[in-house]
Amino acid sequence: MKIHLGYSLAIILQCLTAIVAAIPTRVAFNHLSPRANTTDRLVFCHFMIGIVGNRQNASDYDDDMKRAKSLGIDAFALNIGTDSYTDTQLSYAYQSAANNDMKVFISFDFNWWSIGQASDIGAKVKQYAGLPAQLKYDGKVVVSSFAGDGVDVGTLESSAGTDIFFAPNFHPGQGNFSAIDGALNWMAWDNNGNNKAPTPGHNVTVADGDQSYISALSGKPYVAPASAWFSTHYGAEVSYSKNWVFPSDLLWFNRWNEILKLGPQFVEVITWNDYGESHYIGPLSSPHNDDGASKWVMDMPHDGWLEMAKPFISAYKAGNTSVNQYITDDQLIYWYRPTPKSINCSSTDNTEQGNPNNSSGNFFRGLPNGYETLEDAVFVVSLLTEPATIKVQSGNNTQTFSAEAGASAFSVPMGVGKQVFSVTRNGQSVLSGTSLKDIVDTCICGIYNFNAYVGTLPAPSTIDQLQPAGLSLLTQGLQVPCPTNTLGASSTDASRRYAATPTRH
Ligand SMILES: *[C@@H]1O[C@H](CO)[C@@H](O)[C@H](O)[C@H]1NC(C)=O
Ligand SMILES: *[C@@H]1O[C@H](CO)[C@@H](O)[C@H](O)[C@H]1NC(C)=O
Ligand SMILES: *[C@@H]1O[C@H](CO)[C@@H](O)[C@H](O)[C@H]1NC(C)=O
Ligand SMILES: *[C@@H]1O[C@H](CO)[C@@H](O)[C@H](O)[C@H]1NC(C)=O
Ligand SMILES: *[C@@H]1O[C@H](CO)[C@@H](O)[C@H](O)[C@H]1NC(C)=O
Ligand SMILES: *[C@@H]1O[C@H](CO)[C@@H](O)[C@H](O)[C@H]1NC(C)=O
Ligand SMILES: *[C@@H]1O[C@H](CO)[C@@H](O)[C@H](O)[C@H]1NC(C)=O
Ligand SMILES: *[C@@H]1O[C@H](CO)[C@@H](O)[C@H](O)[C@H]1NC(C)=O
Ligand SMILES: *[C@@H]1O[C@H](CO)[C@@H](O)[C@H](O)[C@H]1NC(C)=O
Repeated sequence: MKIHLGYSLAIILQCLTAIVAAIPTRVAFNHLSPRANTTDRLVFCHFMIGIVGNRQNASDYDDDMKRAKSLGIDAFALNIGTDSYTDTQLSYAYQSAANNDMKVFISFDFNWWSIGQASDIGAKVKQYAGLPAQLKYDGKVVVSSFAGDGVDVGTLESSAGTDIFFAPNFHPGQGNFSAIDGALNWMAWDNNGNNKAPTPGHNVTVADGDQSYISALSGKPYVAPASAWFSTHYGAEVSYSKNWVFPSDLLWFNRWNEILKLGPQFVEVITWNDYGESHYIGPLSSPHNDDGASKWVMDMPHDGWLEMAKPFISAYKAGNTSVNQYITDDQLIYWYRPTPKSINCSSTDNTEQGNPNNSSGNFFRGLPNGYETLEDAVFVVSLLTEPATIKVQSGNNTQTFSAEAGASAFSVPMGVGKQVFSVTRNGQSVLSGTSLKDIVDTCICGIYNFNAYVGTLPAPSTIDQLQPAGLSLLTQGLQVPCPTNTLGASSTDASRRYAATPTRH
């Protein structure tokens, strides 16, 4: 099976080095941020076709389409490689989108397409351009990419046989920004300019990237990235070994607030279903094949991040710099890594086995590269209709916060044990519950797992789980037994499951 996980190849390294070169100092920017006309603001979400080759029909896309639409996502950017199943899956996705009043467009992944293929890419655009679910902007067929600086835009456009709105992931200083209609910035995480976590003195923030793109686009629409997390941990068990994190912690909250202030024409959420890099906001149950990610994805639902985004998307579309008036129900979204950084998994971790090919430069043994940029903490976002008191018990650490109406974020040092949350107002309990996931100081399935567990209050009525296809490579690379889908399953957990049911008063 060919997998599209390539956000990490040498091409990116070159591009990012170029971005850094193009950013001498932060004060060099004019802070060009013409807030976009609110009538045309759109939210996209990056969707990996490369891991859904097992889908059987258009209906297999319906839940994703409905769920995304209900959040206010306007279109999926369908990331495609050159797999044998790409056309079959594109046709299902376009059909399901049409059935569910959603829009889609193609995002060509230049880890698999080459920049010499402009006419093939144009021809692929032409194949789908006339379908009812095709997203159009300004009357033109929207086309995007991952990477692709240097592709001949004129040839691509003429081969498409229709007017296109081309907003690729070109990089300032690399691609020809005169030839395109807009651009997507992929770097949704603070980084070191070389596709790894920042270090003191080498820190290209997401906001730096915004300014770099806005400047290069000189008024053309900007597709601003928004991501919640980044962690990947592949060892020798796959051919695409890579092991690093980007600073994530409260990124999802901070970035949405930044986007409300920036007011870009478009936002692209990175991603719906890239489980391998832990930045999925779609459900675990969304049908997909296992690319080896299940060992850090199993029992780690992210659907709370979907919930959190909803009022921010509404505020963004309304052109409001504050999310507050778009919060209609009291909710708590919380997340944390399942283990502290201090555990030692060196004798069983998957990245400690064998001798993986490190030609990408992305493979590290043991703790993921950049791990020190993450805090051992439990992160909580309160979405409140009126002020309330938030109490967080993380193991033995208990803290209480006064939260204003609107959205607020808090963090509590990670404590091993149970994770208990409550919201009270005027002495009355509003929400309370215990997370289904304890923080432990042992190596879950033997590995360093730097993915995040995301929970909510009220808790969902069902537990989101990986399906068999999404678990098929679970044991590959593991050195210890790893029971499947245990979240909320054991007898002690079952009682907690009831405890997690919110009490509303
Ligand atoms: C905003 O967009 C709408 C619809 O495209 C257009 O009618 C209007 O003139 C635009 N307003 C500005 C200030 O550009
Ligand atoms: C679509 O395929 C799934 C299996 O992936 C199957 O469960 C479902 O019944 C099929 N739906 C239709 C409408 O054929
Ligand atoms: C960039 O694109 C513009 C518009 O298509 C074109 O006129 C120009 O020649 C291109 N520049 C380069 C260096 O290719
Ligand atoms: C990078 O800069 C941001 C913004 O100033 C800051 O929040 C972050 O801590 C910095 N990261 C590192 C590793 O220096
Ligand atoms: C933004 O929301 C605030 C309340 O949070 C409201 O007072 C204000 O009028 C809104 N602004 C716009 C531009 O809608
Ligand atoms: C884990 O323990 C091993 C064996 O004692 C040691 O060699 C290694 O440095 C430790 N790793 C970390 C990250 O502390
Ligand atoms: C390592 O991977 C690169 C890129 O896929 C490939 O070109 C090279 O042949 C591989 N090296 C070995 C020793 O397998
Ligand atoms: C892989 O390559 C990167 C970049 O050269 C290097 O920093 C890293 O240490 C290498 N990993 C291993 C396990 O040698
Ligand atoms: C938490 O506190 C209890 C009671 O003082 C103590 O027995 C336990 O070891 C503590 N747990 C941790 C993880 O510190």
